[in-house]
Amino acid sequence: MTVNMDTLVGNPTTCEIVRRDKENDSTVTLYFRRPPSLVDARPGQFLMVWVPDVDEIPMSISYSGHDTAAITVQVVGEATHALASLHPGDRIGVRGPFGTHFSLDTSSPLVVGGGVGVAPLRFLVHELASQGVQTTVIVAARTSHSLLLYDLPQVSGLRLEVATDDGSMGFHGLAHELAGALMAEGVFDMVYACGPEPMLVSLVRLAEESGTDYQVSLERIMKCGCGICGSCVLDPTGLLVCKDGPVFTSSVLAEPSDFGMFYRDSTGRRLRF
Ligand SMILES: Cc1cc2nc3c(=O)[nH]c(=O)nc-3n(C[C@H](O)[C@H](O)[C@H](O)COP(=O)(O)OP(=O)(O)OC[C@H]3O[C@@H](n4cnc5c(N)ncnc54)[C@H](O)[C@@H]3O)c2cc1C
Ligand code: FES
Repeated sequence: MTVNMDTLVGNPTTCEIVRRDKENDSTVTLYFRRPPSLVDARPGQFLMVWVPDVDEIPMSISYSGHDTAAITVQVVGEATHALASLHPGDRIGVRGPFGTHFSLDTSSPLVVGGGVGVAPLRFLVHELASQGVQTTVIVAARTSHSLLLYDLPQVSGLRLEVATDDGSMGFHGLAHELAGALMAEGVFDMVYACGPEPMLVSLVRLAEESGTDYQVSLERIMKCGCGICGSCVLDPTGLLVCKDGPVFTSSVLAEPSDFGMFYRDSTGRRLRF
């Protein structure tokens, strides 16, 4: 069989940054001219973003409009620092979109985002709003200074709840604690979530206890972003987060795997969370 590497890997498209929004202390959103490859991008999918002279890293799509798309960058290391330092007029390389996406098959969803995990959910929430779905959203962070609220307070038909670990804004506690309280008082037919894996594990447990379906987006170290290198594998299933995910459904995550237990570092070493 002949493998067409262009189709498999994708060529980076150079995109000009047109807008830069500072979201909080450590996070910026970069809007760039949307390349044709992103016309059919769906919420939950990600891009491999080439930061000139530094590295190529996975970034969720946090917005996709007619002319522009956006990524939201939280500074954690060298590549994210360099990316977040770019300004309108600078250029990035974009491959993708890659991976699975959230299914919008819901009429009463609960959307839960922790930290920069809110990024792909913002795209999702706008899509749900455009379909007239009444959505409840929890945005959670350690403190009010690290919340990622975007334009969510202005989205019509949205119930927006905030949770902070230190109680500096909204509910004082963890995202899954607030989610548990909301699930006890109302009925949801789908839980969507993205954020730190311990938060996802707690939400999955809550959803399973209440018989609610769920879709969860996972993060792993990614090198190729398209199923070649194996750095994002979930053992023992062999599922690749870049290709079979990052969005996984309840039926897939119910199988025993590294989810919530193990991850791999940049050398491929398997480590416990
Ligand atoms: C599908 C997917 C979507 C993502 N979406 C976003 C997003 O929308 N916004 C955002 O800010 N970040 C996102 N990330 C995480 C982002 O890719 C990493 O933070 C980034 O690659 C770190 O690069 P660095 O050089 O700045 O830091 P490094 O110096 O390489 O690492 C700093 C820390 O981040 C961890 N890390 C490094 N690379 C990754 C990685 N690929 N995945 C998870 N953890 C990593 C390291 O273990 C280390 O603890 C996403 C990751 C994945 C897999
Ligand atoms: S990042 Fe290479 S296989 Fe997933």
